[in-house]
Amino acid sequence: MPVHVVDHPLVRHKLGVLRQHDISTQKFRDIASEIGRLLTYEATKDLETEKTVVQGWAGEVEVEQIKGKKITVVPILRAGLGMMDGVLDMIPGAKVSVVGFYRNEETLQPVEYYVKLTKNLEERMALILDPMLATGGTLIATIELLKKAGCTKIRGLFLVAAPEGLKRLEATHPDVEIYTAAIDSHLNEVGYIIPGLGDAGDKIFGTK
Ligand code: URA
Repeated sequence: MPVHVVDHPLVRHKLGVLRQHDISTQKFRDIASEIGRLLTYEATKDLETEKTVVQGWAGEVEVEQIKGKKITVVPILRAGLGMMDGVLDMIPGAKVSVVGFYRNEETLQPVEYYVKLTKNLEERMALILDPMLATGGTLIATIELLKKAGCTKIRGLFLVAAPEGLKRLEATHPDVEIYTAAIDSHLNEVGYIIPGLGDAGDKIFGTK
């Protein structure tokens, strides 16, 4: 399974700011969005372009434009919304497919409570957004519903990933490509990433 750690000074710097315990909601939100942009830049590196001729300031000029490949951005509620603006800044024409899950406290399995997918998923590349790839349970549930809807090209964008979640994903969906700003040490006993960022949803929405 391809795992791309986006190892760039800007990303490393911004992630360092996100890790600070006393970061404000506004700053956390801004930086989550900025890293979202930088991850998108990497995750779209292989999009095909085609040549076209436009009228430039000094006459006709040959330029390139992104070929027909359509993209859907898939924020996982609610924390995934925190990366969405940055991603859409880079791909303004992308459609948005929103998914939400809660955890069944008996089975511990993710149960969908909101799903609104764009049409023609078989023609689109999906970019799943979630700041934290922890156990991988919600990510796998999202991948399964996208595949069921016909999507064959799926990438996931994360601020931080845990080795446990990556291992589980490798075993279940090795075709999915992961882009993350960092792979951290481990999950603690309640499923938080260490050192991680804490509860990314609370930090983005200011609900702590
Ligand atoms: N979700 C979070 O917000 N943080 C973690 O560390 C793990 C899951």
